[in-house]
Amino acid sequence: MGFPVVRARRLRSSETIRRMVRENRLTVDDLVYPLFATNGQGVKNPVASMPGVFQLSVDLIVEEAGEAVKLGIPAVLLFGIPVYKDEKGSSAFDDNEAVQCAIRAIKEKYPQLLVIPDLCMCEYTSHGHCGILDEQGNVLNDETIAILAKIALSYARAGADIVAPSDMMDGRVGAIREALDAHGYSNIPIMAYSAKYASGFYGPFRDVAESTPQFGDRRGYQMDPANSDEALKEVWLDIEEGADIVMVKPALPYLDIIRRVKDEFQVPVAAYNVSGEYAMIKAAALNGWLEEKRVVLEALTGIKRAGADIIITYHAKDAAKWLKE
Ligand code: PBG
Repeated sequence: MGFPVVRARRLRSSETIRRMVRENRLTVDDLVYPLFATNGQGVKNPVASMPGVFQLSVDLIVEEAGEAVKLGIPAVLLFGIPVYKDEKGSSAFDDNEAVQCAIRAIKEKYPQLLVIPDLCMCEYTSHGHCGILDEQGNVLNDETIAILAKIALSYARAGADIVAPSDMMDGRVGAIREALDAHGYSNIPIMAYSAKYASGFYGPFRDVAESTPQFGDRRGYQMDPANSDEALKEVWLDIEEGADIVMVKPALPYLDIIRRVKDEFQVPVAAYNVSGEYAMIKAAALNGWLEEKRVVLEALTGIKRAGADIIITYHAKDAAKWLKE
């Protein structure tokens, strides 16, 4: 049976019927809003490559978290710009650094908002790599995961609801799980950046987080963009080590990976709509080349359709507003 008996356009003839047969729906429940905590008071530093994104001191990050709560956004992802950086990334597990203070302040004012600190060393090391280095400048895996576990405990003490390791070291989920469990935090879930690619789309993020590697690149630990089976292996390993939520990052150039992960594993899948994806849309919209609202909602719906249960996006506040209209 085919045309003219079958006419696909019948189910597209009005908004009401389109509503009835719509397969995927983006909702505010899907969104996580990333924020950048810095030290000081009343600090709001704009970032040229990410219009609308700021480094915020703790007082202002609490206000921004309040905006998210008002819009119904369930969670924020926290990054930190520390006071000091060293070879070993010590400021990452300093209980008085920006992220720890931001977690405490947000949880005190908005206990219902989930606070998810991103767990990595690149913002805290003087060399900008996601771990500690040997003499040749290679990231030492097993030494690094011990530090990551320490950072996780610092975040847990501050009151983090979920921790999100983004370093791509082998065995880090297991090391973090073990440390959390041993210290009475067995109820804190791990959202693992499982399939994190060595991507050019992180460029603007590194401006805001001040985390550009001082030499070399991250290809020795982040994944080759050409690989797909390897993403399933990484996700499987993380689940085996105790990851509760797995992530694919970036999102838009990797929709096929999101779909494969969702089809293969029965766990919540997060997708990170990263800084470069945000910057592209923002730049085009500011030039009047794209209609921002329409393309943002289309891009986020595409990520959802690909299989993401959770979408981390700098568009979260705008999307939440538009979804309310
Ligand atoms: C830290 C981290 C990065 C991002 C999230 N966590 C940067 C990187 O790996 O260089 C990127 C987020 C974005 O681009 O929006 N390792």
